[in-house]
Amino acid sequence: MEYINNELCLGPLKKPLLPLVANYMRPIYVYDLDFIAQRFNAMAAALKGVRLFYAMKANSNPGVLQKLKSLGAGADVVSLGEIKRALECGFQPQDIVYSGVGKTKFEISEALKLGIYQINVESLPELERIGKIAREMGKKAAVALRLNPDVDIKTHPYIATGLKDNKFGMELSLVPALVDCLKSFTDSISLVGVSLHLGSQMLEFSGYEEALQRLKKVFLQLKKEFPDLKKFDFGGGLGIFYDRADLELEESLLRQYAEITLRTLADLNCELQSEPGRWLVAHCGALITQVQYIKETSAKTFVIVDAGMNHLIRPSLYEASHRIEPLKKGPAAAVVDVVGPICESSDFFAKERSLTTVQEGDFLAIMDSGAYGYSMASIYNLQELPLEVCI
Ligand code: LLP
Repeated sequence: MEYINNELCLGPLKKPLLPLVANYMRPIYVYDLDFIAQRFNAMAAALKGVRLFYAMKANSNPGVLQKLKSLGAGADVVSLGEIKRALECGFQPQDIVYSGVGKTKFEISEALKLGIYQINVESLPELERIGKIAREMGKKAAVALRLNPDVDIKTHPYIATGLKDNKFGMELSLVPALVDCLKSFTDSISLVGVSLHLGSQMLEFSGYEEALQRLKKVFLQLKKEFPDLKKFDFGGGLGIFYDRADLELEESLLRQYAEITLRTLADLNCELQSEPGRWLVAHCGALITQVQYIKETSAKTFVIVDAGMNHLIRPSLYEASHRIEPLKKGPAAAVVDVVGPICESSDFFAKERSLTTVQEGDFLAIMDSGAYGYSMASIYNLQELPLEVCI
């Protein structure tokens, strides 16, 4: 962690965070846009020739979206709300891939009206629904089949999506039925691609490589019958480290991931697409919170802060462990639990963590919370949403 004059800084340009709390009102998510640019450019260089559709569920802050758009990203969306936000931030319909298992009739017809680039279909009934709606509208829907290759990427069960007992994608054994369905909608559906997304926080790639191989075979099979098939979307999911700041190691994992992907798919001569979220934005954001009380009990010391699980749910939901740093470096460490004000015992950010001694009124940064932070926030307990600031 970078401190200059004992003050915490964020990102490659070492931007100081302390000025942000001058008129502090409530927890603040801060996003370093230069850091996002650095991450995007690194990924675009490693995945040369691949079209990157940023998975905006990770962070849909307008400043972040505009930045990524200006760098050349498209958007991967999962709701009409995300489509609208993407359009407001300058993305064109032709920059948008629409994923998600539960698209409503209304959402599908709006997407078709707008001319969204590609709809990633997640079930046979969804394919039929799209075929019928497009037919009624006199449109031709460009779809990719999201297939589920049934491989394990060894991540938290709540964020694994590529196993056959997950709700996502379609089993490979369904391909003949999908082909029949596509043939009955040749007027209203054009099969343009295949896609996969195995889950999030992937740090080891043997399952991923196997999945690419399996999907490649299906692509080649389908290609014989569907000449418009020209896109292969290999999903997102590349992981990061939350327990340390080791960007070099992350970039070397990125290179490994890119090498496997490009080596496996190069000879398909098709448009390669990816949907990264976390890797681009997680490190670039921090949640700033103020210490309210130091509460000593016979068992523990609790540092009670004004941010809660409603602002950043990752520790409660996945037992994720985010680094916590004081904005001003203090003296020697104590072992504490960092908890929020919410009326749930799962409202914690850290347990038995060694932390610089802090006092009431001090500020802490919960690091690496640029992905799945604000975008998963709620007003539980009628706590206000945090503020967001781009620097
Ligand atoms: N594509 C699809 C279809 C997805 O469902 C996701 C994430 C992504 C791309 C982007 O994955 P990423 O590159 O960010 O790993 N809330 C959880 C993560 C949920 C991921 C949901 N889908 C967390 O905080 O860990």
